[in-house]
Amino acid sequence: MSKKVLLSGVKPTGAPHIGNYFGAMKQFVDLQKDHDGFIFIADYHALNFIQNKEEMKKNIIDILLDYLAIGLDPKKITIFKQSDISEHTELAWIFDTFTTMPYLMRAHAYKDAVAKDKEICVGTFNYPMLMAADILLYDPDVVPVGADQKQHVEYARDTALKFNNIFGETFKLPEPLIMKDVSVVPGIDGRKMSKSYNNHIPLFAEYEEIKKCVMSIVTDSSGGIPKNVYAIHKLFRSEEDLKKIYKEKEGKYKELKEILIEDIENFIMPMRERRKELEKKIPEALEILKLGGEKAKILAAKKMQEVREKIGVNV
Ligand code: ADP
Ligand code: TRP
Repeated sequence: MSKKVLLSGVKPTGAPHIGNYFGAMKQFVDLQKDHDGFIFIADYHALNFIQNKEEMKKNIIDILLDYLAIGLDPKKITIFKQSDISEHTELAWIFDTFTTMPYLMRAHAYKDAVAKDKEICVGTFNYPMLMAADILLYDPDVVPVGADQKQHVEYARDTALKFNNIFGETFKLPEPLIMKDVSVVPGIDGRKMSKSYNNHIPLFAEYEEIKKCVMSIVTDSSGGIPKNVYAIHKLFRSEEDLKKIYKEKEGKYKELKEILIEDIENFIMPMRERRKELEKKIPEALEILKLGGEKAKILAAKKMQEVREKIGVNV
């Protein structure tokens, strides 16, 4: 039986933290064992946020190295860059032509931006249509995403249905694979870990940085257990182990933090070392991206040919 096909995209918007790892990145590595598919760098999505040439270039290379360092295997998963496949933006335009403004105005990301009184670019407004194109071009079975992206995958499904109804059966309806076992990783201040709150522990942090982050975890406690320390610790050690340790060291916050520092260091160190090696091989990593792009292009071009045929522009 052939394997199921997965597809997911990641915006190159800065160094990942352990929340991104446990919330999203790790799942991709786990899923590649029994799935074929695609993980792509959503650089045209990132352009909504990053409008600086050097920063964009750096972020793209960084995220590529990050994924290779955590174990994404280009022999199992095609890794490519969205901007290398012009079919994504082409298909997004076609979707725009039958998508209404009120429908896009219901998207959470748009509503949040409005609530925050932000000025909204057309690219941000249109984000769900580019994402629908990203997905539908490759007929994936599943789209693994965090709960915050569920609505976007539903938009892709709706859009596929709408296209199929107007022009005839063309797109497979994708299923979101919501990574729901993965709870939200808290940051060092107890809120959701996020780059934008500056409460994060970087995934490839050096020992001293891990130490600094852990030592600044806010220690609100209930029954002698520092809640935030424990919540982060359980990502790195079994709860069975932790229960014993936290009972033995009840109230000794500094010692508990020292154990956490060592556990994080042991976990991160091999990936960090691998990433350093990869940094010496950027041309090889870029070659992986190029080859991935060539593979993805073949499929995307074939699908677009079908779309052009269906909409009647092939005369
Ligand atoms: P950030 O909030 O740091 O900017 P992103 O929005 O770029 O993170 O998220 C990238 C991916 O990581 C998404 O799939 C998101 O669901 C996941 N993610 C981000 N923060 C966390 C967290 N604290 N816990 C679990 N998953 C997270
Ligand atoms: N919107 C996703 C995020 O912010 C990234 C993304 C773009 C994506 N295109 C996609 C995810 C297609 C899955 C499938 O995290």
